[in-house]
Amino acid sequence: MNTSYAPRQWSSRFAFLMAAIGSAVGLGNIWRFPYLAGENGGGAFIAIYVLTLTCIALPILIAEITVGRMGRQSPINTMRRLVAEHRALRVWMLIGWGSTIGAFIVLSYYSVIGGWTLKYIELAVSGAFAGDTAASSAEQFGVFVGSPLQAGFWHTVFIGATIAIVAGGVSAGIERSVVILMPLLFVLLVGLALYAVTTPGFGEAMRFMFAFKLEDVTPGTVLAAIGQGFFSLSVALGAMMTYGAYLEQDVSIGRSAVIIAVVDTIVAITAGIAIFPLVFSFGLEPSSGPGLTFITLPIAFGSISGGVVIGTIFFLLLAVAALTSAISLLEPLVAWAEETYQITRRRLAIMVGAAGWLVGFATVFSFNYWSDFFPLAPLGLMVDKTIFDVFDFSVSNIVMPVVGLMLALFAGWALTRETVVAALGAERARWFSFWRFMLRYIAPLGVISIFVANVLM
Ligand code: TRP
Repeated sequence: MNTSYAPRQWSSRFAFLMAAIGSAVGLGNIWRFPYLAGENGGGAFIAIYVLTLTCIALPILIAEITVGRMGRQSPINTMRRLVAEHRALRVWMLIGWGSTIGAFIVLSYYSVIGGWTLKYIELAVSGAFAGDTAASSAEQFGVFVGSPLQAGFWHTVFIGATIAIVAGGVSAGIERSVVILMPLLFVLLVGLALYAVTTPGFGEAMRFMFAFKLEDVTPGTVLAAIGQGFFSLSVALGAMMTYGAYLEQDVSIGRSAVIIAVVDTIVAITAGIAIFPLVFSFGLEPSSGPGLTFITLPIAFGSISGGVVIGTIFFLLLAVAALTSAISLLEPLVAWAEETYQITRRRLAIMVGAAGWLVGFATVFSFNYWSDFFPLAPLGLMVDKTIFDVFDFSVSNIVMPVVGLMLALFAGWALTRETVVAALGAERARWFSFWRFMLRYIAPLGVISIFVANVLM
């Protein structure tokens, strides 16, 4: 094993929080959360989301960061080390490998969507949304993703930026960029939300988002909320474990995780506050699904008077959110490579990133050349899913639940109470028993339920 790499440690709790919040706040908050809330009855979804986040995703997030800080290495080597030290079963090493490979696959397609956000900054700046109708906006999106050259180009730019940051190292690369990018993101988001307050659709949007109607709650709402909580907090893909490995022993993980979850949720709700008033002001559809961001919103940006500025800020916000998440998707594998090979981080970041770039073309082509290619259909599985859909489905519904469940069981059952208490340090106070109960019983049940509902039914 190589031990000659530069030390990897956050210089402050603030740096860790910005990196971790940067990982959590991503396309999931600004794109996925609003459209899921829109499809699942607004207020009801938000209420259930907060409840299930507290009971399922948050306890697992605490476990993941704790395991990372115990092992102090990349997820693969952290799990290898903990399995050896605690004489645990080797199957737990699946947590390390599964999460790292899962992160790499997500990176490949997340970067393609990150590229879309860059393209949409360009469109917004150039005033291309002016006069957009539902049909022309859908057409504009279709023409862009239908072009392998265009989509491939922006994917290349996006992953290039991600590689450049990770290549700089934990302090000079990741930390230095997140402490600037995250505050910028908050400012952009607050600006957009304040603008939304002045639009005529604001009242209707607030009723839509915050009116709690019990009749809107279905089992599907609960499952969507659990899955979104997992995705939004970035658990079970090794990102938080890796960031935890760089965290000082005296920082409270419980408190940090609560801050991460609270900020992540506030950002998601604020994104809804910024988006839905525009949607309602123009009589557009709040439940338009994935097209909400790239098809519905441009129609509004094309009609309002400051649309060029507002639209540019919106897609810039989305790009920043995506970039700080992509960094944390690349880091776990680069960290492992750095521990394994006598090669500089710079080169490793470029090599791993280049591999992710290549795999990303499978996603680029899923919207053009390969849009009718359903790779698993011959096996009778996922018959209508393109490669991109297969990647997304397998990670969200298989890798993340399995790794998340294993993390809960590893920290909740395989490690002794004393070990976990020692790992958490001085902070295990009132909430410790509550957390451990959630981790041992409630979180596993919640995860198994998404798994059964989404995969087996
Ligand atoms: N949390 C990210 C978002 O909201 C998506 C995501 C899921 C992620 N798991 C991750 C990002 C792991 C980085 C690392 O968009």
